[in-house]
Amino acid sequence: MEMLKLVRFYAPRGLKLVRGEGQYVWDSEGRRYLDCHTAHGVGFLGHRNPYVIKSIKEQLEKIMIASPTFDTEIMEESMKLLEKILPKDHTHFYMLNGGAEGVELALKAARKVTGRKKFISFINAFHGRSMGALAVTWNPRYRAGYDPFPWRVDFLPYNRVDLLEKRIGEDVAAIIVEPVQGEGGLAVASNEFLKSIRDSCDRVGALMIVDEVQSGFGRTGILWAHMRAGIRPDIMVAGKCIGGGFPLSVVSFSGEIGSKLGVGAHGSTFGGNPLALAAMKGGIEALMRDDVVRKADEIGKVVRNMLDGIVEEYPRFVRRVRGLGLMIGLELRFNPAKALRILQSRYVLALRAGLNVLRFLPPYLIDRDDVRFLERALHETFQMIASEI
Ligand SMILES: Cc1ncc(COP(=O)(O)O)c(C=O)c1O
Repeated sequence: MEMLKLVRFYAPRGLKLVRGEGQYVWDSEGRRYLDCHTAHGVGFLGHRNPYVIKSIKEQLEKIMIASPTFDTEIMEESMKLLEKILPKDHTHFYMLNGGAEGVELALKAARKVTGRKKFISFINAFHGRSMGALAVTWNPRYRAGYDPFPWRVDFLPYNRVDLLEKRIGEDVAAIIVEPVQGEGGLAVASNEFLKSIRDSCDRVGALMIVDEVQSGFGRTGILWAHMRAGIRPDIMVAGKCIGGGFPLSVVSFSGEIGSKLGVGAHGSTFGGNPLALAAMKGGIEALMRDDVVRKADEIGKVVRNMLDGIVEEYPRFVRRVRGLGLMIGLELRFNPAKALRILQSRYVLALRAGLNVLRFLPPYLIDRDDVRFLERALHETFQMIASEI
């Protein structure tokens, strides 16, 4: 009989990971890597975060199977904490198992509440792989072969205020936007752009959905990246690190939207299971008690300075630094696959974004020694690439 094979939706890295602690992972040969991949940003709070582990362990001893149709202690406890970090006027929320599921609920809610069927998204946007989320995801490579999509979607250029104001009409249910584009290449939304989305939505009665799945929970040096612009979204989607490594997403709604959603409009068997809620509780405790957002902001600046130096030194290979806080990278003049391989051989795990961005999504725990380690690895990487040309 043939051996069972994993469908390789992700290209294999040729590395077997056996342990993770803080900002590091170890492979099966005992080699330690600085983890700037963190499973696409999930590990922002670090591997085996002690708050998350403690909370999950405690919950395991109580109850690990319960639908949100029943009240539980962990639901009450985690809600109390969640309330402290959600946008102030977001009085309703729901929990699901991953980013795309959260986006799916956000879009469904906008469709239902407004009665409209059209969405606006942006060039290079990434919102997930399920059909609704894919409909508002731009990359033609991810979309190929999957049409028809459930809704009409207009993709507008990111950060172009003038075009947005012209193209939005009263048939639009919602505009969905990443405050910092993750998979699409680490473009940062200007405050003016986010404000103009808010104003345009208000003008035509559309909703503003911010997708903070990658940019949220402190990663960009502010709790939620859209807050830089001082705007209030109608719906927010959070995922990745909000569960401290556990599969979990949270969708929050302003009171006006949330109060219009009720029994039967959505659901999920696993969404909000007690272990995921315990993980979130531990994650939010870590965020608050360990001053995570400030630390991410501070070390994010150190990383940016270091990367600025790399841009100066290797202008033949590197165009500019992109991103914000610890959602940061280098825009290269070529495909980053080779640089990623060399970095891995120098014990740094990173990932790509868009066509040509080398992306780093490290835990907030990285320190100045780690930044120097990353700097050395980058020098070696570009020197090696130079020597091969
Ligand atoms: C901004 C954004 N939204 C949604 C998603 C989808 O999340 P998931 O892979 O957990 O479904 C991602 C994943 O990278 C993302 O970066």
